[in-house]
Amino acid sequence: MSFHYVCELTDLTNEELKSFTVNNEKILLIRINDDVFATEPKCPHMKLPLEKGTVVDGCRIQCKFHHAEFDIKSGKAEQWACFPPGIQALNFIRGQKDLQTYNVKNEDGKISIEL
Ligand code: FES
Repeated sequence: MSFHYVCELTDLTNEELKSFTVNNEKILLIRINDDVFATEPKCPHMKLPLEKGTVVDGCRIQCKFHHAEFDIKSGKAEQWACFPPGIQALNFIRGQKDLQTYNVKNEDGKISIEL
């Protein structure tokens, strides 16, 4: 495991979800003020792109597709797929899973993640 440079802090807009390829791996970066968090880029529900989601209350990512929500820092699933109504009936085959997160280092505005 080692840290790999991703981008400059100034390349990220506050509360934007932006994907990058680092060391042949796709990751998602989320900037919250001067903090940056890194997660896997695909929602664990149906592997659709989380980049199209939004930040909720400055601390959770909501997936655009079925509204699963994940804690940005820990990746813990705080809400599982619940949109459109009735999709919960499929949860027995797509059980709740957390989002993988990565350690992030910010050195003078240079953002690296540990892979
Ligand atoms: S793909 Fe994200 S909640 Fe379904």
